[in-house]
Amino acid sequence: MAILDTPDLLRQWTIANPLSVKTIPQRNKILMLHPQHYKISYAINPHMRLPDGKLKQVDSSKATEQWKKLVKSLENCGLEVEIMDSQAKFPDMVFAANQSFVYWNLNTNRPEVLLSNMKHSERQGEIPYFEEYFNAHDYKIHKIPQELSFEGTGDASIDIERKVIFAGYGMRSHPSTPSRLCELTGYPVVPLELKNTDYYHLDTCFAPLGPRDVVIADDAFSDEGLDLIYAAFENVIHADHIEAKESLAANLFCPNGKDVIIEEQNTRLIQRLSGLGYNVHPVDTSEFIKSGGSVFCLKLFLW
Ligand code: ARG
Repeated sequence: MAILDTPDLLRQWTIANPLSVKTIPQRNKILMLHPQHYKISYAINPHMRLPDGKLKQVDSSKATEQWKKLVKSLENCGLEVEIMDSQAKFPDMVFAANQSFVYWNLNTNRPEVLLSNMKHSERQGEIPYFEEYFNAHDYKIHKIPQELSFEGTGDASIDIERKVIFAGYGMRSHPSTPSRLCELTGYPVVPLELKNTDYYHLDTCFAPLGPRDVVIADDAFSDEGLDLIYAAFENVIHADHIEAKESLAANLFCPNGKDVIIEEQNTRLIQRLSGLGYNVHPVDTSEFIKSGGSVFCLKLFLW
């Protein structure tokens, strides 16, 4: 399979798409981790500090309330939520999107997983717990060479209709991870370079709502990345810069092409998406935004 790194390659592949004969079942399972150990005890992205340089403080009981309401919202969209134990040593473990990337193997017709190599040492110890989970659930597990950082679903987004993976790199994931993903999964990969530290994961600036619509924070990408996004989607919705940066507008989750769960402070984007016919479910994730995460990265979407 190919790296689709020019708009022409991407368009040609879309027309001739050899994988279009394959079907991938819809996902409806969500994996989450209880926020009991969630706090901010180090800063590995700009959201985690106050303007005076001090670490932001998390209100634990508020975080738990918000997380429980998020679980309810996901369930209201018909999703089945499974909760995995979190670990006191790893305060960011609640962000379940980052430790792995789960994809559908088109040859065996089963899901498989690529475990992450977290860029920052503070989070590396989270991975064995996910390895244990995937072992217990009979997944074929793949690992990436130790020298390449890769942050899972934070930086890799699979389009199950078009069978293509969008891969962010340059912040947390190493520039050669898009081609690794391509070799491993057999999917074509669209590499998207991230340029702005506020958007350190692809899921902070890129939210596909299906194969046609995508929400982006445009100041996150290189010009080449933006050209690829325009070639891949008919309708590119630009999140307002303040909403994208301050309330992580693009860290929304659209599980089925119609429901959108999104941080409630993003009133302009909410109005826009409602106008386009999406069923918008606003939720309060303010305690998690302090750490640089919101709806999308608090969960892992599984088959
Ligand atoms: N504090 C965490 C980190 O910097 C937040 C991760 C949020 N995850 C995400 N995919 N955006 O790693």
